[in-house]
Order: sequence, then C-alpha cells, then structure tokens
Amino acid sequence: MPQTTTTVAVHPLIAGRWSARGYDVSATIDDDELTAILEAGRWAPTWGRIQPVRFLVGRRGDPTFEALTATLNRGNAGWAPAAAAFIALATTDDPDDAAKHEYGAMDAGLALGQMLLQTQALGFNGHPMAGFNRTAVDEVFGVPPGYRSMVILAVGKLAEDPSTLTEAIRERDAWPRERLPLDQIAFAGRWDTPFD
Ligand SMILES: Cc1cc2nc3c(=O)[nH]c(=O)nc-3n(C[C@H](O)[C@H](O)[C@H](O)COP(=O)(O)O)c2cc1C
Repeated sequence: MPQTTTTVAVHPLIAGRWSARGYDVSATIDDDELTAILEAGRWAPTWGRIQPVRFLVGRRGDPTFEALTATLNRGNAGWAPAAAAFIALATTDDPDDAAKHEYGAMDAGLALGQMLLQTQALGFNGHPMAGFNRTAVDEVFGVPPGYRSMVILAVGKLAEDPSTLTEAIRERDAWPRERLPLDQIAFAGRWDTPFD
C-alpha cells in the first residue's frame, strides 16, 4: 500500500485506508459484509436527524451493478468493474433550500467516510468515484426530484497476484500518496497562522 505519513500515530483503519484500483475480479462480498457497510452509512451523524442519504446497492454481475458500471467515465471504467460491489450515494439537493443543499452534501460525505472505514475494517478497499454520469444514474434508477446522486463507492478486494493487473493499474496504485502538511491547513488565531 502506498504509505500514509502522519506526524503522530492515527488509528490503523485511517492509516490503512487508500483508494486502490488493483482489485481481484473474482472476489465477492457476502450479505453481512455489505450490510455492515450500509449500516455504517445509516448511522453517520445527520443534521437535524433528517437522514437525507439514500443508497443504491449492486453486487458485481447483478443488474444494479451493471447499470452503475454503464454510467462510469472512461477513467473509472478501466478498473472499477472488478469491484465486488458498488454503492451509489444520493442525497437531497435544492438550490432554494440551503439545508437540503449544504447539509444533504455534508451528510453524504459523513456517510461515505464511515462506510470507507467500515469497508477497510472488513478487509476490503473502498474507492469513492464522482466520475460517472449523474443524469444517467438519476434516470435509470428513478432518483426523485429533490435528490441527486453524488458518488459511487467501489468496494473491492485487492488482487493478491499483481500479474493479473494491467501495467497501467499497477503503476497508478504505486503512486505516492501525499497531503498538504498540517501547518498549511490547520490554523489558530487567524487564517494562515499555523496551529502549533
Ligand atoms: C468525492 C470524491 C470523488 C472521487 N472520485 C474519484 C473518481 O471518480 N475516480 C477515482 O479514481 N478516484 C476518485 N476519488 C478518489 C480520490 O482520487 C482519492 O481519494 C485521492 O486521490 C486521495 O487518495 P487516497 O484516497 O488514496 O488518500 C474520489 C474521492 C472523493 C472524496
């Protein structure tokens, strides 16, 4: 796994999470595992207890998975179909209603975060994708007005034998993972004054 570097130790689930592409196309996910990932999303914090987030769930080979696959952009279509499952997250959006817009998106992000960690805890890799045709997802699945699909979470098992992967996927998965240093993003007193 490309390294997660931190200034102090963080929880292994956080340190071990990354967005991989080199999935084992024969791996499957069982009912309890998939349900646990959905439960992690269901139990995310939710503004005003509104619970705006909805999930569209497909396992590799089933009609929902196939339909979601057809909406992926070219970059994602190259690796994501080897996932064991796709979970699309939809949430409220209404340009005239700040709560539905802002907190719908906030709640979806929180649900995704919890689902990623649950995915990791189960020994799978979770990889969020915004690279898909939202309009197509909304149409194919009958997402109602006032909701919009935000992200598709790919849940896959890392391929144990790298020779089953294309060179391009192997290379991409080896890219170093980087983040801005804390003193550039955590402030105290005033913007741009690093938290010490
Ligand atoms: C909302 C969102 C959308 C993303 N969409 C895509 C995507 O369409 N395709 C992709 O390969 N990665 C996608 N990613 C994954 C990011 O590229 C990845 O999180 C980032 O490169 C940092 O890498 P890490 O997750 O390994 O830390 C997305 C991540 C988020 C949070």
